[in-house]
Amino acid sequence: MKIAVVGTGYVGLVTGTCFAETGNEVTCVDIDSKKVERLSNGEITIYEPGLEKLFLRNLKENRLQFTTSLEDGIRDAKIVFLALPTPPGEDGSADLKYILGVSEEIGKLLKDYKVLVDKSTVPVGTAEKVKAAVRKNYSGEFDVVSNPEFLREGVAVDDFMKPDRVVIGTTSERGRKVMGDLYAPFVRSGNPVIYMDERSAELTKYAANSFLATKISFMNEIAQLCERVGADVDMVRLGIGSDDRIGKRFLFPGIGYGGSCFPKDVQALVKSSCEADYQFRILNAVMEVNEKQKLHLIPKIKKYFNDDLKGKHFALWGLAFKPNTDDIREAPALYIIEELLAAGATVSAFDPEAMKNVQQLLGDQIHFAENQYEALKGADALIIATEWNEFRTPDFLKIVTSMKNKTIFDGRNLFDVSAISELGFHYESVGRRS
Ligand code: UGA
Repeated sequence: MKIAVVGTGYVGLVTGTCFAETGNEVTCVDIDSKKVERLSNGEITIYEPGLEKLFLRNLKENRLQFTTSLEDGIRDAKIVFLALPTPPGEDGSADLKYILGVSEEIGKLLKDYKVLVDKSTVPVGTAEKVKAAVRKNYSGEFDVVSNPEFLREGVAVDDFMKPDRVVIGTTSERGRKVMGDLYAPFVRSGNPVIYMDERSAELTKYAANSFLATKISFMNEIAQLCERVGADVDMVRLGIGSDDRIGKRFLFPGIGYGGSCFPKDVQALVKSSCEADYQFRILNAVMEVNEKQKLHLIPKIKKYFNDDLKGKHFALWGLAFKPNTDDIREAPALYIIEELLAAGATVSAFDPEAMKNVQQLLGDQIHFAENQYEALKGADALIIATEWNEFRTPDFLKIVTSMKNKTIFDGRNLFDVSAISELGFHYESVGRRS
C-alpha cells in the first residue's frame, strides 16, 4: 500500500518506518528541509532503540522516502497519516493549528479518494474539524479516521510492531476496510483491532494516558503515606498488584511522571472536560500530586544538610524523563537541578543519552560528566533521577572512593535498602524505610 506520513517527529518517524518494514511504500513529509535532507541521507533524527536499523534498511530498499513537498508526498498515497505536533496552548488545551492547517492544504491537493488518519493525540471532535478543513477546498470523497498511537518512548518499535491493540475510529465502512487491511500484519498474534466511532477513539487515547498517570500519582501518594506511618511501599505494591483487577504494572512510585505525553494529555483532558461543563476532579489531583512529587527529594536533601546547600556538590545520575530515551521534556531531573542551583549548590550530572539536550538548555550551569563515576568526584551526595539499567548494579567500591560522603538520595528506588545500608551508605528513597 502507498502511504504518506505528514510530520517526521517521534510518532511520524516510528509510524513511517514501521509501515515500510511491513512492505508498504511510505513517503514522509516535513516542512523542515534540513531534517528532510538529513533523513534522506540516512541520518536518523531521534534516539529510539531498534529504529535506526529498520530506518536504514527501508531507506535502502526505497520503501521509505522523505520530501518537503506535501503535494509529492500525498499524490499516490491511499492513506495519509497526520503525525503533527499538538502543543498545549496557554490554557492547557491542545493547539490544532498544525493539524488543521495541513488538512486545509490537503483539501487543495486531493483529486481522488484517500483516508486521512489522525495519529496525533487530539481532543474529541478533531476528526470532524479535520473533515471540515478538507471540505473547504474539496468536494469529492474522502474519509477521516482517528487512529491514536500507544507507543512508549524507548520501546516504540516493539509497541508498533506488536501492539496490545489497535484502535480505529471511523464510522465509514470504506475507511474501516482500508485501515483493517493496513493493520492486519500487526495483529496476527490475535491482539484486537477495536473499531469504534471517531469521538470514542479520540477519547480512548486521553483516557488511557490519564488512567496510567492516575496509577502513578496514586502510588506516589501511598509512598508518601508509607514514609509517614513506617510502611514499605514495595510491599504494598506487591500486595495490591497481585490482584488482577489492579495489575502489577505501572505501580512504581518515584519522583513523578514526565515526558511529552502524560503531563500534556492529563492537562488537556481536564481542559476538555471543563469545556464540556464537567469538572474532572481526580485528574486535577493527579497533576497536583505529580508537581509535588518531582521535588520529593529536595526537603529530604535539605534536612540532611541542615537546610544549608550553599557550596555543597551533588552528583546527579539521570537527566532523561525515563530510561532509554534522550527526551528531557518535563523531566524531574531538571526541576531538581533548578532547586539545587537556587540553593547555592553545584551539580555534576551524567546521563547515557540526554546530556546533549540538557547542555543546550542549561549550558555550563552544571558540569556534564564523562561517565557515571566521574560525576561522583568530590560529591557530598548522589541523587538518582532516572532508572537507567547501568545505574542499577554499580561498582559500589568505585562510588565510595569517588564521593566525599557516602550519601544517596534515590528518586527511583534502585537499590535494596538493607544491602546498601550494610555498605555504610546513608540512603533515602521513595516510600521505603531508610
Ligand atoms: C506514554 C504511554 O505509556 C504510551 O502508551 C503513549 O502512547 C505515550 O505516552 C503517548 O501518549 O505518546 P511515554 O510517555 O513514552 O508513553 O512513557 P511511559 O513509559 O508510559 O512513562 C511515563 C512516565 O511515567 C515516566 O516519567 C515514568 O518514569 C513514569 N512511571 C511509569 C512511573 O513513575 N511509575 C511507573 O510505574 C511507570
